[in-house]
Amino acid sequence: MSVPVITIDGPSASGKGTVAAIVAQRLGFHYLDSGSLYRLLALHARKLDVAWDAELPLAALATTLPAAFEQGRVWLDGNDVSEDIRAEEIGIGASKVAALPAVRAALLQRQRDFAVLPGLVTDGRDMGSVVFPQAATKIFLTASADERAARRHKQLIGKGESANLPRILQDIIDRDTRDAARAVAPLRQEPDAFLLDTTELTIDQAVETVLRCFGQSQASGI
Ligand code: CDP
Ligand code: CDP
Repeated sequence: MSVPVITIDGPSASGKGTVAAIVAQRLGFHYLDSGSLYRLLALHARKLDVAWDAELPLAALATTLPAAFEQGRVWLDGNDVSEDIRAEEIGIGASKVAALPAVRAALLQRQRDFAVLPGLVTDGRDMGSVVFPQAATKIFLTASADERAARRHKQLIGKGESANLPRILQDIIDRDTRDAARAVAPLRQEPDAFLLDTTELTIDQAVETVLRCFGQSQASGI
């Protein structure tokens, strides 16, 4: 029996992770935040003093990355690094290591291994285009850059961190450019992906739309 997969790709702070996690919970499916793998690799490399542009050593590290996802937490070498991987600097490292073709190739099978019954919801940049091209439902989730910056700002303030809105907006624009312009697995909407612009949508409305798309794909036997 083929495993149903829902892919949610899109730019930073569009709400992919939030929406994907709720959809997975509603369906009782597994959830993979693929960005966390790139973040884990950036953190692991930093700890081992491997530069974020050293393609082959990074690919070797990616193949043996001692990572685990358990109890809703992210573990590296047995240590809970759920907060560490969210640091802004590690996000920058993640987008640098993610631009290296050998690194992406090394993480490919690892991501595919998450597709087990009863199903998988996964979010990232190339889940529908490269990792799961046969996915039952592909969503391209986006929102305006201003709205995404405002969401990230609110998220940081909520965590008690200092946040500067113009700087966050600039970071988002830079990240968009890097993700869309890279040669390998660039961020783009696949022709068979459903465009979901959440600029004016609540999280609940976005979740319901994804569930409806999935229901339709199941009904039509895709
Ligand atoms: O939270 P944010 O959307 O900024 O990033 P993330 O999803 O945690 O991913 C961190 C970085 O990994 C992104 O900036 C992307 O450059 C990269 N990434 C990727 O290239 N491909 C994926 N499937 C997921 C993330
Ligand atoms: O995973 P990604 O970087 O795309 O975004 P996220 O971390 O899931 O969402 C960024 C923030 O936007 C979170 O605080 C969400 O609660 C919020 N959000 C929102 O306010 N409205 C939406 N429709 C979707 C997300």
